[in-house]
Amino acid sequence: MDSQTIRILLNGEAVAITGLAPTTSLLAWLRGARGLTGTKEGCNEGDCGACTVVVGELADDPADAPRLYAVNACIRFLPTLDGKAVFTVEHLRSLAGGALHPVQQAMVDCHGSQCGFCTPGFAMSLWALYEDCLTQGEAAAGADPARIRSALAGNLCRCTGYRPIVEAGERMFDAPPRLLDRKRLRAALLALRRDHTLAFDHEGCRFVAPRSLDELLALRSRHPAATLLAGSTDVGLWVNKGLRRLDTLIHTGEVAALRAIVPHAGGLRIGAAASLTAAFAAIVRLYPELAELWERFASPPVRNAGTLGGNVANGSPIGDSMPALIALGARVVLASVRGRRSLALEDFYLDYLKKDLAADEIVEAIELPPPAPARRLRSWKLAKRFDSDISAVCAGFALELRAGTIHAPRIAFGGMAATPRRATATEAALAGRPWDEATLAAAQRALANDFTPLDDLRASAGYRRRAAAGLLARFFLETRPDAPLAAVQTRAFAAQDLASGRP
Ligand SMILES: Cc1cc2nc3c(=O)[nH]c(=O)nc-3n(C[C@H](O)[C@H](O)[C@H](O)COP(=O)(O)OP(=O)(O)OC[C@H]3O[C@@H](n4cnc5c(N)ncnc54)[C@H](O)[C@@H]3O)c2cc1C
Ligand code: FES
Ligand code: FES
Repeated sequence: MDSQTIRILLNGEAVAITGLAPTTSLLAWLRGARGLTGTKEGCNEGDCGACTVVVGELADDPADAPRLYAVNACIRFLPTLDGKAVFTVEHLRSLAGGALHPVQQAMVDCHGSQCGFCTPGFAMSLWALYEDCLTQGEAAAGADPARIRSALAGNLCRCTGYRPIVEAGERMFDAPPRLLDRKRLRAALLALRRDHTLAFDHEGCRFVAPRSLDELLALRSRHPAATLLAGSTDVGLWVNKGLRRLDTLIHTGEVAALRAIVPHAGGLRIGAAASLTAAFAAIVRLYPELAELWERFASPPVRNAGTLGGNVANGSPIGDSMPALIALGARVVLASVRGRRSLALEDFYLDYLKKDLAADEIVEAIELPPPAPARRLRSWKLAKRFDSDISAVCAGFALELRAGTIHAPRIAFGGMAATPRRATATEAALAGRPWDEATLAAAQRALANDFTPLDDLRASAGYRRRAAAGLLARFFLETRPDAPLAAVQTRAFAAQDLASGRP
């Protein structure tokens, strides 16, 4: 197979593509080159879901049924879809013999659309859920409004209101099932498999998708100024909104070893290119306390495309995975042709967007320790919306309680400094003390000395300080030895949840 031609299965048809800039978005190509204008452009930054499409790809074991998942076409560079299937809203009718697909019919029946601009995106997010539930024999679970709401967390509608759309999500399971033929999809994807690296140039820009870790490291060492590209949920915005030209892109997504999530010393080793969805599922199996945080991280399409390695490597001071990972004592593994080294995650961040990462190094993996019975762990994100919003403050708290006394406290915050950082004075005020109100008060006083947060559009410095102290108090209430409160008693969203029926 030609190493310079991108090959995609578009709505069931194999398409070969050449002569495109590497940063061409899937959305621009669908609408401009293919005339598939059902997929809409709203924000062009992954926020509104108008451009949602569904991607199909071979499972890690190609003998298994292929996976389907929703992504935002606006921030996805086309070459990263080489060897994958893309389904747009235009395809849904063909699954129902030319009639409306049950997802579309339910939207009609429940009056789930007014101006209709957001509707294709909602239909595709609902279709991904529909396929997921029905292939796993879970129609009843799929009809659960909480699960439907989560599936739609990345879709905005400004005129219809969400109730009829969520009702459509329940109703779509009532009709006889109309499922994609995954056997045919698997055969078509196998036929697209390439055995050598996709690499091409276009008007001075280069795209390479190495297929092994050695090839990736060799490329990194030869092109230290190149942009490493994982899920493009950050990099896509540099292009769409920052109008940046990226001369050389090295895509990490084809390196199977980087996508692996494996047990490691009783804990987990998460490859840097594992999707956020896969990484969070594995982390929550080990640390169920983190379930709400991960649900509040971006939206399903962003989590399906974005990677944990990308979040850690990007190193934003408001990145949401780092406070919890630092509190847990996670380590980051860096690799280059010179070898490997591993750092405590907090030591990776040197200053604002400055990391301890040499020009020829990549982030290879993130390692998490095993759960400890005495460890108490929480992480909370404060933002203006429950779903898909940027943190004002994000906190990760861990400590071990033995006979009521605090050991090994690890407290980290995002949004409070130029990097995600540990609260060392607070930790010192906790270590070796009884976990009681006096210790909490001392720790809150120490916390005031740990950070000098900024005023910005999301929050004032004063709010951030008070909110951080409030989260520490919440941690105390949920983990104190004497009469700890259940999470539902301390949740900021509990009242809203009662009204909306969320669990
Ligand atoms: C709508 C929307 C909502 C979002 N919500 C959240 C949120 O709630 N919380 C949050 O924290 N983030 C959020 N993000 C940011 C983003 O999704 C995450 O940071 C994501 O984890 C980035 O991963 P990626 O694979 O897409 O990285 P990319 O965009 O591909 O890359 C990000 C950076 O990491 C570098 N990089 C990638 N892989 C490696 C590697 N292996 N080694 C070295 N460097 C590497 C890239 O060169 C680049 O500098 C959101 C983004 C969008 C568009
Ligand atoms: S256009 Fe808004 S998410 Fe893509
Ligand atoms: S129907 Fe108009 S934006 Fe949703």
